[in-house]
Amino acid sequence: EQPAPRISVIGTGYLGATHAAAMAELGFEVIGVDTDPRKVEELREGRAPFFEPGLPELITKHVASGRLRFTTDIAEAAAFADVHFICVGTPQQSGSFAANLSYVEGAARSVASNMTHDGLIVGKSTVPVGTAARLRAIVAEVLPEGIQAELVWNPEFLREGKAVDDTLAPDRLVFGGTTDRSEALLRQVYATPIAAGTPVLVADLPTAELVKVSANAFLATKISFINAISEICDAAGADVSLLADALGHDVRIGRQFLNAGLGFGGGCLPKDIRALMHRSGELGAYAAVGLLQQVDEINMGRRQRVIDLALEACGGSVLNRRIGVLGAAFKPHTDDVRDSPALNVAAALHLRGAQVVVYDPQARSTAQRMFPTLGYADSMGEAVSGADVTVVLTEWQEFVDADPVTLGNLVHTRTMIDARNCLDAVAWSAAGWKVLSMGRVPEVAPLDADLAALATAR
Ligand code: UDX
Repeated sequence: EQPAPRISVIGTGYLGATHAAAMAELGFEVIGVDTDPRKVEELREGRAPFFEPGLPELITKHVASGRLRFTTDIAEAAAFADVHFICVGTPQQSGSFAANLSYVEGAARSVASNMTHDGLIVGKSTVPVGTAARLRAIVAEVLPEGIQAELVWNPEFLREGKAVDDTLAPDRLVFGGTTDRSEALLRQVYATPIAAGTPVLVADLPTAELVKVSANAFLATKISFINAISEICDAAGADVSLLADALGHDVRIGRQFLNAGLGFGGGCLPKDIRALMHRSGELGAYAAVGLLQQVDEINMGRRQRVIDLALEACGGSVLNRRIGVLGAAFKPHTDDVRDSPALNVAAALHLRGAQVVVYDPQARSTAQRMFPTLGYADSMGEAVSGADVTVVLTEWQEFVDADPVTLGNLVHTRTMIDARNCLDAVAWSAAGWKVLSMGRVPEVAPLDADLAALATAR
């Protein structure tokens, strides 16, 4: 048995910070590197630079145990570690659907050029197929005389909100472009999940790169599929939630990722399908381009659908109407608002002259940084107080559990747009609300409740 390799993790965003902490938890000595000194300072103090359940505890534990350190100095990490994980971002380029690869290229170049002993560079970032081969050329060019380094690919599939569990117990491990030696080293790094039964798939470089983007493209397609069907449900008076339950019993289909509503957002799915669309075009794979274009368009159409519902509920214009917005994060259990459909809808309503007041249990400050001109509230009650329309845009449990009677007494008009199909529409309508959902027959309050609502209205 070889001595345990020392590990560096380059980039301490959602992926890197979690990977670094998880590697320390698995028993390795880890150094995390980031160019942002503020992030490094926070991490050194045992804090995660974003909200992720379980992560601050893990970071604190291993900063204290001494197994986990952070630095802004890539040379320190290159000299310390044997296995270097590249975990930097690949954001969408401005003005194009292509991925911006400058951070991954910079990370590979800087770690390789600073290496003082042989090592393994492992790409984890989500990249367009063909990137790893280019990185190999860069590494070969900049490696110091006499130093050897392999570059392999090991895509990451973690979900925000479940990042720690997904990293410690992944569904599968993919090793791309490995030799016997680097495969053995990766098997040593992942010995714990492998012993617990995680399957390992050994692939060539392009296949490994494609697994990640194809997985995300498939998930996005599933969501857009059910959203397209929900449009039929709306037109035909059918219920997309019941339909999804029935479809989901077929194990070939499965129930997950069949929740119709506002569609997908976040730092991964939207930019990944666009980058794949762009790359497919470059490669002449036009069937994929057409498919992904539709998936993206259907998804963006969902945001417009919610805006239209709000306009309709306000009689054609939201000008000076008060709209209570519940949710800003792109999904629950995160404070991430990157490409958040919720904030997008809130901002669009604000642009049309509505007085928008947003409440989110975790994402208030990230949302406020991105859209400082929207109104923000500290509680659900404050957000909906006096509202002409209330909109649920992120399915936080707090909203699912909300009491329709209590909220009903705070609003001006009991109109609820449930853009995530997450509320018990029958219970809400029994409390006098008109509930508009996405692909479900509206639940209209019974007549006497309507009268009661009128009586309490200002
Ligand atoms: C995703 C992938 O799941 C993960 O494997 C990959 O590594 C990174 O991208 P994440 O972005 O954290 O993870 O979010 P995910 O849980 O996949 O949700 C993505 C979006 O789809 C959210 O906006 C969510 O609200 C939406 N969604 C999800 C639906 O609209 N309907 C569903 O049924 C499921």
